[in-house]
Amino acid sequence: MRDVTILGIESSCDETAAAIVRNGQQVLSNLIYSQIDIHRQFGGVVPEVASRKHVETIALVVDQAFKEAALNYSDIDAVAVTNRPGLIGALLVGLSFAKAFAYALGKPLIAVNHLQGHIYSNFLEHPEIEFPAVCLVVSGGHTSLLLMTSPGDYEEIGSTRDDAAGEAFDKVARFLGLGYPGGPAVQKAAEKGQAGVITLPRVFLDRNDYEFSFSGLKTAAMNQWRKIEQGQPGTVYDMAAEFQAALVEVLVEKTISAANQYSARNILIAGGVAANQELRNLMKKRGKEIGVSVYYPSLQLCTDNAAMIAGNAYYSYQKGDFSPLDINAHASLMSW
Ligand code: KG4
Ligand code: ZN
Repeated sequence: MRDVTILGIESSCDETAAAIVRNGQQVLSNLIYSQIDIHRQFGGVVPEVASRKHVETIALVVDQAFKEAALNYSDIDAVAVTNRPGLIGALLVGLSFAKAFAYALGKPLIAVNHLQGHIYSNFLEHPEIEFPAVCLVVSGGHTSLLLMTSPGDYEEIGSTRDDAAGEAFDKVARFLGLGYPGGPAVQKAAEKGQAGVITLPRVFLDRNDYEFSFSGLKTAAMNQWRKIEQGQPGTVYDMAAEFQAALVEVLVEKTISAANQYSARNILIAGGVAANQELRNLMKKRGKEIGVSVYYPSLQLCTDNAAMIAGNAYYSYQKGDFSPLDINAHASLMSW
């Protein structure tokens, strides 16, 4: 079969990214311009600042993706772009650029669901993944457990009732004064502490379903932290360790139960929180105990990137499933 080369563009939050991927597998270039240093001074992503920065950098990042892949614009077969979910202004920058680029080159446009992109990071590196697979999606804005029976087929079997896992990490990091982004900061602090010195609830762990809730855990952590500030024993490191342990344990045990119930051949973890070392280690350990292989992307593919977008678009390309030039961006997930 003829090679298919796809340009991917990602601008849903605070990373301006472009990548070129061949046949959904071979990453020819993968450029990420992170705005983290700009947003850090505000303690979180400022949507309007993110949009403006995307406007300034997107053409440069796309151009560099072609240079690093040693390709001309006309060498690509399609332009893939994230159009949902995310910050609406930020999404619109990438989508508008992608539409213009595709139109000028006379190539098809493929709109991609950002979360499907995160899941695809696993397939980019591990084409051997087998179905049925249970996939835990844990990002800054979403937490869902999915059953996948074939490539590109997603059935949601549970999700969070309130905060997303990444959001909980970010909020807890903020009140503990650990900085932004919260996930890596909590992980680093947790390494110096001990889980169990402070006790936090494993929310919904006793429920016989795949629903999650992290807002109560965050409130419990806040209440405990106030007591520590008033003299009760415990350190910020112990708090970080216990919070991480409480959150990770629930994510892992629900995923393992789902893998058992649906006789999964594989377990996948996707999204920014998949970078969490405790989550990776415990899922691997528990997967081994039940005889199911666990996959997660390498660290640079866990957080937002465009290789996962270009890779995921290969499914659509093969089906001839292209997007019209008047397709819109959406802040919410809409559907899987
Ligand atoms: O997928 P992502 O890059 O952006 C969204 O699509 O939301 O995920 C970002 C989230 C943030 O909440 C960040 O704190 C979290 O992923 N994160 C982590 C780690 N690295 C990033 N959470 C826990 N541990 C980490 N090592
Ligand atoms: Zn993401």
